[in-house]
Amino acid sequence: MGQIITNKRFRRLRQSAWVREMVAENHLLPEQLIQPIFLCDGHALQKEIEALPGQFVYSLDQLLAYLPQVESAGIKMIALFPVVQQQLKDANGTYALSSDNFFFAAIQSIKQHFPNLGLMVDVALDPYTLHGHDGVLDAAGDVDNDKTVHLLADYAKLLAASGADAVAPSDMMDGRIAAIRQHLDIAGHTKTLLVSYTVKYASHFYGPFRAAVGSTNKEGISKATYQLDYRNSTEAVEHARQDYFSGADMLIIKPGMPYLDIMQHVKQEVPLPIIGYQVSGEYAMLCAGAAVGAFNYHAAMLESLIALRRAGCRMIITYAAVDIAINCLR
Ligand code: PBG
Repeated sequence: MGQIITNKRFRRLRQSAWVREMVAENHLLPEQLIQPIFLCDGHALQKEIEALPGQFVYSLDQLLAYLPQVESAGIKMIALFPVVQQQLKDANGTYALSSDNFFFAAIQSIKQHFPNLGLMVDVALDPYTLHGHDGVLDAAGDVDNDKTVHLLADYAKLLAASGADAVAPSDMMDGRIAAIRQHLDIAGHTKTLLVSYTVKYASHFYGPFRAAVGSTNKEGISKATYQLDYRNSTEAVEHARQDYFSGADMLIIKPGMPYLDIMQHVKQEVPLPIIGYQVSGEYAMLCAGAAVGAFNYHAAMLESLIALRRAGCRMIITYAAVDIAINCLR
């Protein structure tokens, strides 16, 4: 070290495909990919999401018909999001905790039919509230932290009781990881994985997702009082450390590609497996870029996913999971 090797030629290790394959540091496997899927109540429904080409909102029967393809692609886990009818929403997200909530029965049925496919479910109230926030509001219109944590702990317990393998709080309330772990354990759900959206930025890249679950309102929605400020990185590590000590099993960091520095930083400081979430706006951007001929879709998508692996993500949530696994990874 410290000496300059004057005859060093970097291109020797790049000269042919075989040597590039041999020295490659980072790889992507189907089992590292998690496919997000949107589920609605009803029958025989499969509606394409406008801003997410190739992504659909499924009714349960259609989803059950699709899942064999997911399994045979080598995907080990899906991230399931409910799409709730507008007339069932209210300010408090009451339907989330209702025993009539179609989502609980659907989870049960999916696990009955696909016991070997991991099922992760988002824990937040945004699919259930009319205002689209992830929790309930206080008198001043801000999200009430402690009331929300209470409701989400109950919701997480119901999801676990329905058979969800992993619950993933995406609400960014303070104290929710410890509260949910305790609530799950007391109810006997000691095996349920707790996957924390530990670092979730107040991002503009969630637009297509919000359109899909109907959490967008006319004025637009700001979640800046609970999601992280994108000018900051120091607090990301604090979040990760606290979730580690509160009993989280894995950490999610999102969005993906604009936040590679955060992933690398958290990876160095906290030993939990990190999942990077390539969010809806990133997927939409890559689709749009390919559509105008800026790049080849699969090539650019694969590059973007390997970038997340390089930054330290052990797993990746991406809308392209099944497609990439089938078309690029075997
Ligand atoms: C909501 C939630 C969001 C996403 C995942 N869970 C949106 C939000 O915070 O408003 C975004 C995912 C995506 O854009 O793909 N709790």
